[in-house]
Amino acid sequence: MHTIDVNTGRPYRVHVGTFLLERVGETCREVAGGERACIVTDTNVGPLYANPVRQGLAEAGYEVDIFTFEAGEANKRAGTYISILEFLAERAYTRSDVVVALGGGVTGDMAGFAAATYMRGCAYVQVPTSLLAMVDSSVGGKCAIDLSSGKNLAGAFWQPAAVLADIGCLATLDDAQFADGCGEVVKHAAIADPDLFCALERTPLTPELLRENVPLVEELVARNIDIKRAVVEMDERETQARKLLNFGHSIGHAVEASENYRLGHGTCVAIGMTAISRAAAALGACDTTVPERIETACAAHGLTTRTERTLDEIFDAALHDKKRHGDTIDVVIPRRIGACSIETVSLATFRDLIAEGIGAKGK
Ligand code: GLY
Repeated sequence: MHTIDVNTGRPYRVHVGTFLLERVGETCREVAGGERACIVTDTNVGPLYANPVRQGLAEAGYEVDIFTFEAGEANKRAGTYISILEFLAERAYTRSDVVVALGGGVTGDMAGFAAATYMRGCAYVQVPTSLLAMVDSSVGGKCAIDLSSGKNLAGAFWQPAAVLADIGCLATLDDAQFADGCGEVVKHAAIADPDLFCALERTPLTPELLRENVPLVEELVARNIDIKRAVVEMDERETQARKLLNFGHSIGHAVEASENYRLGHGTCVAIGMTAISRAAAALGACDTTVPERIETACAAHGLTTRTERTLDEIFDAALHDKKRHGDTIDVVIPRRIGACSIETVSLATFRDLIAEGIGAKGK
């Protein structure tokens, strides 16, 4: 098992290993206390994993409730979030009780935001079951819901009390869900760890690798979390350095929105990283091997790097992005594999970057 200590304002420990679902109860007891525990999960994950978690919580002395919502990004919205708050209030949860986020990124975001705001904040423990949630969204305390105008537009920075990433849960992901998580894995390596990037080029993180070598998958997940830890510790509330984690996201989020969330987040990040790297190489900010290596690494992880969306569709969607400030937007530009810079560019320049990145005609 790997443990990673995240030294944010409220420090916590991330555990990466196998058979961790059974340990959620004892971990909640250690880090959060309280009398009641509410598992927040969705209709895909609940039937698979809620039982061992519920049992462990009960054995640790908790009165346990389960809130289950319909799976899917379309449900990461105010209605579901308010239902969680009402559910906690109807059962007389206090701010010393604990919320357990059991699922992927959507669940972690909604349970985290509910915990951040219920009685002005109660403890929550992240139990990510998707690769994307393990390597990215469960760590760092960002939690949000979508509004009609865009993704993650209402949210908070609210660090979990602990994170338990049980690698065994990855076995029930389908190939597309697994690949989707790899978008963030390639991103972490591309922004901060050239050795990890080379390792992923040699041995991609795939479902086959999970079947053949669980310890290596465990190590790769832990290494990704450690990259995220280092960035979040530098800049918990994203005033500057944390923006590096948005590599591929300015275009990626816009593709995601213009696709009406039919494509996974990690897949859109792969499209966004490749596009911005191509544009950066065309401008001379990095050499052409950077987009080539990123595109090849994404493909080796089963990720598409091309979009059918038009320049106007992507640009219009980008105007709703949180990373936009008036007439400018922050963009992460690759300099070489393992090093990126954060640039503030005008919206007109950003439009040109998108056009260059997706190879749009008649820019
Ligand atoms: N997923 C980017 C961040 O947590 O900052």
